[in-house]
Amino acid sequence: MATILVTGGCGYIGSHTVLELLNKNYEVVVVDNFSNSSFESLRRVQKITGKEVTFYEADIRDSAKMESIFDKHNFDAVIHFAAFKAVGESCKLPLKYYENNISGTVSLLQIMERRGVKKIIFSSSATVYGDPERLPLDETCRLSTTNPYGSTKLMMENIMQDLWKADNEWNIILLRYFNPVGAHESGLIGEDPKGIPNNLMPFVAQVASGKLSCINVFGNDYDTPDGTGVRDYIHVVDLALGHIAAIEQCNLSGVHIYNLGTGHGYSVLDMIHAFEKACGKKLPYKICERRPGDIAACYACPDKAKKDLKWEAKFGIEEMCASQWKWQSGNPMGYES
Ligand code: NAD
Ligand code: WQD
Repeated sequence: MATILVTGGCGYIGSHTVLELLNKNYEVVVVDNFSNSSFESLRRVQKITGKEVTFYEADIRDSAKMESIFDKHNFDAVIHFAAFKAVGESCKLPLKYYENNISGTVSLLQIMERRGVKKIIFSSSATVYGDPERLPLDETCRLSTTNPYGSTKLMMENIMQDLWKADNEWNIILLRYFNPVGAHESGLIGEDPKGIPNNLMPFVAQVASGKLSCINVFGNDYDTPDGTGVRDYIHVVDLALGHIAAIEQCNLSGVHIYNLGTGHGYSVLDMIHAFEKACGKKLPYKICERRPGDIAACYACPDKAKKDLKWEAKFGIEEMCASQWKWQSGNPMGYES
């Protein structure tokens, strides 16, 4: 079976993807520096699957250490999750983001090039569409960014496009995730944000569990059906399965770009009400100012992934909320619980 290197495999999306890779009997090697995670997620993945993961605590920018890992394994492909992802922090500390996300990726690509490992699945984001040119967003829509985090994603896409132009042997798969939410059905792994969550659904889940007191709804005067922001929320397990589909279906060299979304847009209030059903209680919320940099609506056209990768999202918002609640209520302090 193929051996896959997963960078950032202890994180939220990485741990769910490692689990699905193990379920499919891939050999998995994870590299993570614990800048936003701990080993506990992988320990639980091993418990759920009954399978072993080879793990190295390493920073992808540490070329010597990464070379020594490539000495020990023959990788068939790399799934590259390792990056910083907090939009607000990226505005305050742009260099931290350019350093980690861009330098880390360039360093990883250099080692892959030297070792002749030329298949990479890269975590891009719907953030590269900036303020959407049209909806639903398809892969040909105009690209732009509204913050340094988004700029790092778009730059990394461009770097990999240039790499392919220079060497047509590369097989580069850019997966543009929409809004990942939810958790594995076991309730044993999930998103474990440090401090107060930036994203809507972990915040809602922490209000439901009593850790936070009230949801702040960032604006109700957008041009959307109920005035609150509309997004394409995708179950993290569907997202993980999208990576397996990319590994299995995308075997020709080139730059392949896919949206991973459901194609459905839900408002902030839709999500709060769906979560109320999942947790069985009313959730307090208040309408606040718009959050600077937010867009009104964003949802995917997922047709290309369906056609080429034979993948489509299976879970709806009920499963997203139910699984997120199972994770939150069973682990109120995240992996420290
Ligand atoms: P996460 O923070 O949970 O996971 C990222 C992992 O990478 C963490 O375990 C962190 O410790 C590790 N890491 C960071 N820098 C590293 C480095 N230099 N060396 C080694 N390990 C490093 O984030 P996530 O939500 O799982 O996101 C995974 C990827 O998907 C990221 O690239 C992110 O930008 C992208 N993405 C996330 C979302 C989202 O909303 N969660 C949406 C679109 C794209
Ligand atoms: C969703 C909606 C908010 C929090 C971000 C990144 C994007 C991608 C996914 C990585 C919006 C509203 C939020 C809250 C609220 N990440 N909201 N109260 O902004 O769509 O996307 O995560 O690539 O790049 O920008 O996600 O979950 O922060 O917000 O009302 O406390 O919920 O205004 O309409 P977003 P989000």
